[in-house]
Order: sequence, then structure tokens, then C-alpha cells
Amino acid sequence: MKIAVGSDHAGYQLKLAAIRLLIDKRLDFVDVGCNSTDSCDYPDYAKKAAELVASGQCDLGLLFCGTGLGMSIAANKVHGIRAAVCSDTFSARAAREHNDANILCIGERVVGQGLAMELIDVFLCAKFLGGKHQRRVDKLMAIE
Ligand code: RB5
Repeated sequence: MKIAVGSDHAGYQLKLAAIRLLIDKRLDFVDVGCNSTDSCDYPDYAKKAAELVASGQCDLGLLFCGTGLGMSIAANKVHGIRAAVCSDTFSARAAREHNDANILCIGERVVGQGLAMELIDVFLCAKFLGGKHQRRVDKLMAIE
């Protein structure tokens, strides 16, 4: 599994922690930036990561900003992307199992690093359940 990871300055520390987690898990990843805590614009990195996922070059994506909101709004504008902002493990699991979310967004100013790593772990391990959820995801994507 290959993961696209990205952040703006406000999510940079969580992105570094996420990369350490991915290395521990021996998962391949592409880091689309940013590369420091210098102020930058989250849509630039959301777009790069979302396009990697939408094109199939990456299987899933992880995006970090201050709240997770800007990243999710931007990523969801890319065709084929279902980005979910999560701050609890129940939602992170349901995002994969029910919504077939392909990008997880987390806010560094909202969620502590320990919980954020659990969210990522749950999101990466959960599987889409299909069935009635597939019908709903199909309707979701038909809106595009
Ligand atoms: C940056 O100040 C902040 O607005 C950004 O990281 C994000 O939270 C936007 O949604």
C-alpha cells in the first residue's frame, strides 16, 4: 500500500509523526510537502496528494492542517476523492468501512499526536464493507 502524505505549516509536526508511523509500519509513501513550518497554503498540498490518490498512484492519503477542514474541502474538489476529517477513532473506522474514504484529514490544532496516530492506524487498517454502502458511495460519486 502506498500513502500520499501532505500538510501545510499548521499540520507539519503531525505529518512528520505520521511519516515516522508509516516507516515503522513499512508502508511506502509519497510526501508532497510542505517542508517546514513556514506559512504556506493548504490547497497546494491537498491538490497534489488528492491527485496522487485519484490517479491510483497512491492508494490512500493523509493530510494535515490546523483543523483538517481546509485540507478536506480542497481534497474533495478533486474528482474521485472522498476526504474525511476525523478526530475520533469511531469516525476514522466508519470513514473507511461506510464511506470508502480515501483520504484522512486531521487537525494538528485539534487532535493530540497520540490520538492522531491511532486515527491513522484505524483508518489504514479498516476495509470498505461494500454492499449497501457501495450503493450509497455510488450515489455520492454520481453527484460529481
Ligand atoms: C492555517 O492558519 C490554517 O488556517 C490551516 O492550517 C487550516 O486549519 C485551514 O483549514
